[in-house]
Amino acid sequence: MAPAMTNRITTNSFTPDIGDASEPAALDPRAFRGGMAKLAAAVNVITTVHDGEPYGFTASAVCSVTDTPPTLLVCVNRSNRTHPVIAASRILCVNTLSGPHAELSMAFAGGSAPMVERFGHGEWASIVTGAPALVDAAVAFDCRVSAFHEVGTHDVLFCEVVAIRESAQTESLVYFDRRFHRLG
Ligand SMILES: Cc1cc2nc3c(=O)[nH]c(=O)nc-3n(C[C@H](O)[C@H](O)[C@H](O)COP(=O)(O)O)c2cc1C
Repeated sequence: MAPAMTNRITTNSFTPDIGDASEPAALDPRAFRGGMAKLAAAVNVITTVHDGEPYGFTASAVCSVTDTPPTLLVCVNRSNRTHPVIAASRILCVNTLSGPHAELSMAFAGGSAPMVERFGHGEWASIVTGAPALVDAAVAFDCRVSAFHEVGTHDVLFCEVVAIRESAQTESLVYFDRRFHRLG
């Protein structure tokens, strides 16, 4: 009699545990956040301006999409005060922070202070779109938002880069294991 077939695939070096074909149980969001704490990420401040008022927040959910056309994606919580302002202005600047910017990053990461007080940290000068750009950011990507895509609590923003300004900073600011680290 032929042996019963199983859905287990075996190689010399790897035995994946495929399990049964039913839908997996949803992962606990706390487990997801714990895993994400181990994914080191550059720290950015996303800024915009509308009716002359600057807005901004700290974000690590930023990555390259394509160079043709030059496009970044940025994930923004819809409860974030800056979200409706970007939806209105359709511009933003991704300011990628450098080694000395941990305090500035925390100023843009919470608290009830008026938005304009956040911009008391650092020196800001816009590039093309008018969104505030941090003068000594490692690099600033000035963007027009081309699309919004809703996923759960966040919107994924596709952002066409219209100008770039680099500084002479030699360090990157990285968030890993719920702490800032200076790299470089
Ligand atoms: C290291 C770090 C990374 C963050 N990344 C994001 C992000 O990618 N997207 C986001 O919407 N919020 C992110 N946040 C949270 C926002 O910075 C925070 O909720 C901010 O207070 C929102 O601005 P508001 O207080 O003006 O609403 C991050 C915070 C920190 C400290």
